[in-house]
Amino acid sequence: MSIVKANAKVRYAMVGAGGRLPMFIEPACTTFRDHCEVVGLCDVNAGRIAYYQKRAREEWGYGDIPAYLAADFDKMIQETRPDIVAVCTVDAYHHQYIIRAMELGCDVVTEKPMTTDDAKCRAIFDAIKKTGRKCRVSFNYRWAPAPTLVYRLLRQGIIGDLIHVDMEYLLNTSHGADYFRRWHREKDKSGGLMVHKSTHHFDLVNWWIDAVPQTVFGFGRLAFYGKENGAKRGEHVNYSRYTGSDTGNDPFALKLDSDEGLRKLYLDCEKYDGYIRDRNVFGEPISIEDTMSVLVKYRTGVVLNYSLNAYLPREGFYCVFNGTKGRLEITEAHASHIITGADNADLAHEMKWESQVVVHPMFGRAYQVEIPKAEGSHGGGDPLIQEQIFSPNPRPEVDGRNAGHEQGASSILIGIAANQSFRTGLPVQIKDLCPQLPDHKHLHEMI
Ligand SMILES: NC(=O)c1ccc[n+]([C@@H]2O[C@H](COP(=O)([O-])OP(=O)(O)OC[C@H]3O[C@@H](n4cnc5c(N)ncnc54)[C@H](O)[C@@H]3O)[C@@H](O)[C@H]2O)c1
Repeated sequence: MSIVKANAKVRYAMVGAGGRLPMFIEPACTTFRDHCEVVGLCDVNAGRIAYYQKRAREEWGYGDIPAYLAADFDKMIQETRPDIVAVCTVDAYHHQYIIRAMELGCDVVTEKPMTTDDAKCRAIFDAIKKTGRKCRVSFNYRWAPAPTLVYRLLRQGIIGDLIHVDMEYLLNTSHGADYFRRWHREKDKSGGLMVHKSTHHFDLVNWWIDAVPQTVFGFGRLAFYGKENGAKRGEHVNYSRYTGSDTGNDPFALKLDSDEGLRKLYLDCEKYDGYIRDRNVFGEPISIEDTMSVLVKYRTGVVLNYSLNAYLPREGFYCVFNGTKGRLEITEAHASHIITGADNADLAHEMKWESQVVVHPMFGRAYQVEIPKAEGSHGGGDPLIQEQIFSPNPRPEVDGRNAGHEQGASSILIGIAANQSFRTGLPVQIKDLCPQLPDHKHLHEMI
């Protein structure tokens, strides 16, 4: 969806000036500044906007970026006339900006998840139909080297026809716990980990096996974090947040004043909107699950068995594909973005991002497939997707890694269906949640 304008820069407005904004604002202000322009920056929090305005000026040598509070979003679009709006705010508000940007004549690139519930998803489809605008979903994980290798091996038919997939995703007590400190712990803000986090994993599986989900069933519960679970294990911590509290040797304590980035982006900005970034993971309220098991039947007949646990001693995933001619396994060990409660030196080894891909032919000897090296965040995925978004001449894409709203919906609808199944104890049909989702069997047939 690269917009190429003769002799003119593509104009971007950006909404959501939090931790993830650099994914969009940094390449636009640096590597791709000759081809694009950041014409406006919008957030509810004036402090975070000012933080990025300063970084743009002082760190990236970019000019002044006009600032707008969220209430002035329409004004920003009218005054700055962007071609594309990049949406990088709290998940539950994505749809507001996606829809309004399209109504005001812009295309959109949004962070995952596209949105958090089925009504908002249907509203996005309606807005796209009404306006004819485009919505790209930024699935950076597809672009990391090991997932791309797996996609290519499966397309080559290396294990024959696919029958079954098993994915176990592990979040550790650093990264996993972090979702229980912030807005993510409120289901009405994030859709829970089934939507916020698993959208990456469901998207990877949908894309790897080139299939559209049909039926979802699952169980989920809060079994580790939260006041009640902590108390049951004898963890009596009476502070509502970590910074400024006497946290002793609490391994979950995150001190916002111990890190310059966290201090400037969050602690110093609390006075504007009261957003507390370091709430106690054993406090209240927490309305999301930390323990989830889900079964997905695809329109191709393939079944996915998936689990996500968010309190484990290590981070990464195992994913296994069983086919008519053998089995393919991918395992990844991941770094954590925030390390608390441990000696960083001891973690140095664990913090490396390591992947392994092994093929087990049905009657042959198993072998490991070499994974190409890549640099950059999220295993090297972020720089490649940034090129697709911002370059006027991105490398031609042959692996189908660019995703629009239909593919974006195919991933979140699994999580939304799982949330419904957690509540009702019943299987959920994806088509009932979003009748506008096309009837294709294969993901590549979708936008
Ligand atoms: N693809 C990835 O790997 C990846 C990684 C991290 C985050 N994300 C996504 O990026 C988005 C932002 O996450 P984050 O980690 O930066 O969160 P964050 O909490 O650091 O930032 C959220 C920002 O949204 C702003 N905001 C809140 N309510 C708003 C509203 N109504 N209107 C406008 N702005 C509002 C907040 O003030 C804050 O600046 C999320 O959708 C998240 O899922 C994606």
